Amino acid sequence: MAKNVSFAAPLLPLVHVVAVGRNGVIGGEDGLLWRLPSDLKRFKAITMGKPMLMGRKTFATIGKPLPGRETIVLTRDAGFAAPGVVAACDLDTAVALASERGRAMGAPEIIVAGGGELYRQTLARAVRLDVTEVDLAPEGEATYPAVDPAQWREVSRTPHPRGEKDDASFTVVVYERR
Ligand SMILES: NC(=O)c1ccc[n+]([C@@H]2O[C@H](COP(=O)([O-])OP(=O)(O)OC[C@H]3O[C@@H](n4cnc5c(N)ncnc54)[C@H](OP(=O)(O)O)[C@@H]3O)[C@@H](O)[C@H]2O)c1
Repeated sequence: MAKNVSFAAPLLPLVHVVAVGRNGVIGGEDGLLWRLPSDLKRFKAITMGKPMLMGRKTFATIGKPLPGRETIVLTRDAGFAAPGVVAACDLDTAVALASERGRAMGAPEIIVAGGGELYRQTLARAVRLDVTEVDLAPEGEATYPAVDPAQWREVSRTPHPRGEKDDASFTVVVYERR
């Protein structure tokens, strides 16, 4: 568990990266509900070399740290430990730790990589949302909150046709805080 984290240094901005179904669903009990290798390639490119903050349940669905990134897992379990990741017991500590690690890596921002609980708790602090709108509406328990146009300005919208191995077409929409 993280200790001796400095709260004095400036915090890096938070950026949400998320894939959302048409119904707001982002995942189920067994994790992701679709296969979108084309979007995973994009996810890898935009997260590489950056600290990634995620909830313990999302980490459990991935099972290991993603190479080239620093994984910070948020959990209330003080005994949590997993090889290659650091854990924090509250959001402020997690963001301070991710900022510290991010600065050491030369990263400009912290990626919030889910899941639903983490997105909700960090939305008010986020500066940018990178949302993959998936053209599917599967059932699932985890959801992403509605993006309020009064708070968020759409800066780009890029449609992607369904790739050979993708389950669906999708559109990448980037929002910045107004
Ligand atoms: N489509 C996407 O882009 C995407 C991305 C990521 C995840 N997902 C999906 O989202 C689902 C998981 O989301 P979820 O909402 O169920 O869980 P989650 O946000 O991944 O994790 C929740 C857990 O994080 C810890 N936590 C949350 N807030 C905390 C806080 N303030 N302080 C300390 N610990 C805190 C707790 O862990 P403890 O219980 O250990 O205390 C909590 O149970 C999965 O289905 C996953 O596949 C989808």
